[in-house]
Amino acid sequence: MKGIVAVLWLAVKRGLSLNVGGATEGGIHFNAGPENSVTNDVSDDADLKGWIAPESMATIDREAADRQMARSESLEVIDELVNSQRYAAYPMEISAICIRFGLNAQSCARVEAYLGRLAHNRTKQTVKLRGFFSGTITAKANVFAIGVRSMCEAPADSACDIYRRDFCKVVTAASGRALLGDKAALFKFGDTRDAHACYPTFYKTRLMKLRDDNYVLLDLNHDRHWGMVGQVPGADVSWSQKRTQLVWRGASTGRCDAYFNNTRMMLVRKYFHSQDPRIDVGFSEALQHCDAARSYVKPGMSMQTVLAAKYVLVAQGNDKASGLNWALASNSVPFMVEPDIESWLLESSLKAWEHYIPIEPDFSDLGSQVEWAVQNDGEAERIAKAGKDYMQQFKNRKTETDIEAAVLTAYLDRMDVRTSKLSGVVDGHLEKTCLETP
Ligand SMILES: *[C@@H]1O[C@H](CO)[C@@H](O)[C@H](O)[C@H]1NC(C)=O
Ligand SMILES: *[C@@H]1O[C@H](CO)[C@@H](O)[C@H](O)[C@H]1NC(C)=O
Repeated sequence: MKGIVAVLWLAVKRGLSLNVGGATEGGIHFNAGPENSVTNDVSDDADLKGWIAPESMATIDREAADRQMARSESLEVIDELVNSQRYAAYPMEISAICIRFGLNAQSCARVEAYLGRLAHNRTKQTVKLRGFFSGTITAKANVFAIGVRSMCEAPADSACDIYRRDFCKVVTAASGRALLGDKAALFKFGDTRDAHACYPTFYKTRLMKLRDDNYVLLDLNHDRHWGMVGQVPGADVSWSQKRTQLVWRGASTGRCDAYFNNTRMMLVRKYFHSQDPRIDVGFSEALQHCDAARSYVKPGMSMQTVLAAKYVLVAQGNDKASGLNWALASNSVPFMVEPDIESWLLESSLKAWEHYIPIEPDFSDLGSQVEWAVQNDGEAERIAKAGKDYMQQFKNRKTETDIEAAVLTAYLDRMDVRTSKLSGVVDGHLEKTCLETP
């Protein structure tokens, strides 16, 4: 008992909030502490009540320490590269940056992909602003420009603090080195994207069709999307030990409209009462904004129970489905609608029938795809395994940090975001002048 109390206390101290029975946010929220309990970034992971165990806490601690060490090393390289390039006429080649971080071709391809359009531009780009963003950083601030170091000192609301913390770990490790600090960048935090971004900006996700646009991806809100991946080995069983069933549990995030394709509401309306015993879908909780969801709530499932099924449905909520990363990492096979949003996971590299079993946006073929998987068990197992193999590339902490650092280096090298009282300036709230919302 004492142990449990200690773990809970540690969890609170470290800003983890455990969901103890029926709170609104279904699951564990890394980095969402008591002071951060209001967040517009609601997790839509399967209900994983009480999952966290002392061993898992130790793993999280170890991971954080490794991450921090990897970051300080990468930082010295960023600092050196950015400063030696300050007055160069042309930006460094991405491949040259990758070599400095010791990244192989596969990792370097990821650096390019995250950079979007910026990767193939051979000119440096200047953005002049009347002033940098000041005030409290909120997701409502849309795109904002700020000095890399000021970003880490400015006040931020709880939702943005989660994003910012991931970014600032890099910068904080640099304390004492003023050089990086006077470089500025453009950011947008939160789950929303824009139809158009007029300058290269750091985002967590982007629409796949805009992958060669101004959306530069970083591993923001890391714990929400990747925290569960580390828990998979402890919860998973082999394919042959799994039951033949498709399961889905999640909160009623996203659009509350059962007649709108690819919404969780459409999914539950069509399959909550399914006569096929192999299909078990339901909300683990109905959120306030969606009363209609209440009639589709089923008891939550632990990760262990979800992964005892061969087929795990992944459904988009507000943004990318946060269950995708751990479903892929498991021995189960994900079923999902072809994603249109990509994140640090690089969903654009995932292929239907190779890494997941595709379903129609209106879920109309869910039953027949389950039937296919039952009839082609070896194939389904092979797809499950390929998804797990795909996840291997994200496994090495040092490599992940170096990839992030290379993205940041390339950005700071290519972008000159500065203030100017002269012509051609816009103010720090860029969305007013250059962003359209979808
Ligand atoms: C490169 O950046 C400049 C702005 O500095 C822009 O005008 C140009 O369109 C970009 N080129 C490509 C290929 O994106
Ligand atoms: C909804 O999805 C179905 C296929 O799953 C497609 O035929 C239909 O055109 C989609 N409807 C809309 C409005 O996009």
